Amino acid sequence: MNKLLSALLLLAASWPALADEITYQKHIRPVWEEQCERCHGTSAPEYATFMKNPRQFELDDKGPRMDGYEAMMFFINGQEAGMLMRRLDDGSNTQDGQPGNMYRHLGRKEARLENLKLFKKWIGEDAWTTKKTADITPEELQRIKAKN
Ligand code: HEC
Repeated sequence: MNKLLSALLLLAASWPALADEITYQKHIRPVWEEQCERCHGTSAPEYATFMKNPRQFELDDKGPRMDGYEAMMFFINGQEAGMLMRRLDDGSNTQDGQPGNMYRHLGRKEARLENLKLFKKWIGEDAWTTKKTADITPEELQRIKAKN
């Protein structure tokens, strides 16, 4: 094989964004299982139930359930659009410069940065916003990639 071609193939293989597009099943789900599931898994209440008594669930380390693609999209482009981005942002896009309160759950040090990058690539760099749900325009929602 020609040298340039094999070098390119090697690069592609070591670079997930080039090798294939980011999907929920392949890239996000494993991070979620490791970093989010214990508080947002099947034992967590559905959003409506959670909202009836948030303090109580918080004491129990339970947030609203997001145990699958659809359930997670609810917090990305659904009823709670933008919520996941606001909570995961490292502070570079928030008004007060403070990270969202789920940012720290993305992992330690390097892993945290890598996982945030992964979420951003999955949703789309140009779709990433920390705006309030009501302020996000339909055009902005359209930009969200977040493939299953
Ligand atoms: C130690 C438990 C815990 C872990 C781990 C955790 N969360 Fe949470 N999360 C909570 C609790 C409790 C709430 C509700 C309280 C609040 O809004 O801060 C919450 C709220 C949220 C919300 C806001 C939901 C809403 O509409 O009110 C999002 C989005 C979220 N978490 C995403 C994540 C993601 C993504 C991860 C993994 C990277 C994660 N969380 C890891 C406990 C956790």
